[in-house]
Amino acid sequence: MAAIHFNSPLLIMTNTLNVVVLAAGQGKRMYSSLPKVLHPIAGKPLLGHVLDTARKLGAARLVVVYGHGGEQVQAAFAGQPDLAWALQAQQLGTGHALAQAMPHVAGDVTLMLYGDVPLTRLVTLQQLLEASAGGKLGILTDILDDATGYGRIVRNEAGEVQAIVEQKDCSPQQAQIREMNTGILALPTARLAGWLGELKNDNAQGEYYATDLIALAVRDGVPVATVHPQDHWEAEGINNKVQLATLERIHQRELAHALLAAGVGLLDPARFDLRGSIRHGKDVVIDVNCVFEGQITLGNNVQIGANCVLKNVTIADGAIIHPFCHLEDAEVGAAALIGPYARLRPGAELAANVHIGNFVEVKKATIGEGSKVNHLSYIGDTTMGSGVNVGAGTITANYDGVNKFRTVIEDGARIGSNNVLVAPVTIGAQATTGAGSVISKHAPAGELTVARARQVTLTGWQRPVKQNKD
Ligand code: UD1
Ligand code: CA
Repeated sequence: MAAIHFNSPLLIMTNTLNVVVLAAGQGKRMYSSLPKVLHPIAGKPLLGHVLDTARKLGAARLVVVYGHGGEQVQAAFAGQPDLAWALQAQQLGTGHALAQAMPHVAGDVTLMLYGDVPLTRLVTLQQLLEASAGGKLGILTDILDDATGYGRIVRNEAGEVQAIVEQKDCSPQQAQIREMNTGILALPTARLAGWLGELKNDNAQGEYYATDLIALAVRDGVPVATVHPQDHWEAEGINNKVQLATLERIHQRELAHALLAAGVGLLDPARFDLRGSIRHGKDVVIDVNCVFEGQITLGNNVQIGANCVLKNVTIADGAIIHPFCHLEDAEVGAAALIGPYARLRPGAELAANVHIGNFVEVKKATIGEGSKVNHLSYIGDTTMGSGVNVGAGTITANYDGVNKFRTVIEDGARIGSNNVLVAPVTIGAQATTGAGSVISKHAPAGELTVARARQVTLTGWQRPVKQNKD
């Protein structure tokens, strides 16, 4: 498929684009207190998908028509200065909704999108804008086997579009038409205010229909162009959680296929979920049932085992994450080995060749090159040097119930099994601590420190015997 480069500066200058997103619908059939357009696909609100696509089109202005749950929707998109908000207090139809946006609209072309139609491809909208350039009216239409429920595209014998007729207003012949209105329209802004003023609600639903703009354009001799999406799902809207889940799967399949095409080895593209974005090197392999959120960066030859959840993580070349790991806001150095069953919490920064084994939790800790924490440990608020070995079952006691304190473990130290390092505390370079120690004072460099009760044997001690109770 040839890409159309609409984004060239010349076109933007000659064809200033405004986008109006209709998002006033309540979404009753979601049975949710969350407004419909805030429900996520791939971790991003439906409306976020639409706005991001609109931004890639180079829209000069983005207007969101909101109604139900308006404060919640506005709060979710706070701090985005390119957005203008238009309230539609009562839902009197798509034409009425569009009219509410007009005070914010300038420029040559007004593109009308729906906040609950999240997956329209950028290239499809670019094709629609190309087709409607020069003051035409553009409609994104699709041919369906069964177009029941949708507005139908009515053409004359020459094949020119004459009108859109809503399902409830269709004659029996019109109901046979398979070409439907996706709802997405590219409109000549200069004509729009006049046409919107002429809309009437004398139809089956008693609504002001945006679709009636087409007949007005035809009356005024404005040419009407149509463009189809490449895939039907590009124009599919979301009214309930079945449709939400269906589009989520379609979107995930697209994301997985794009990663495969870019060389990422996904062992099963149907069992991989991306809720953010990935930057990756070559020969990355990802086993089944992984969920990636936020910004993920994977170097060359990184391997991710089955059932891992990663959020905002950077993993350097050749590192291996074994199955069942949970990593969040963490950095993993080159050739490190993590898991299985490891948890890296925010602020875990691991250098090259670090080994973090099973049932080990690391939080707010830097761990130097080649250091190993292989079994059943908690390392928090810690600065660990390189070449350190931490025995099984060791924890840093970093919290006195009120304040957190740091543990420092210098290069080459060996911490025995089942130690409690009571922070603030420093273990000197090349120091060794005995198994079972509770280290609450400085352990000097190069020495063995043992902090546990001495073992005693009481020779001749007798076991108690059962007493006779008469
Ligand atoms: C609309 C089109 C129909 C098209 C269909 C595609 C009209 C009259 N009909 O029908 O031709 O086939 O979409 O799905 O345009 N909205 C508001 N305010 C309103 C009414 C709607 O913001 O007053 C928003 C809704 O939240 C939704 C979108 O506009 O995002 C479409 O509204 P909806 O009621 O679903 O349109 P349909 O009647 O299905
Ligand atoms: Ca409707």
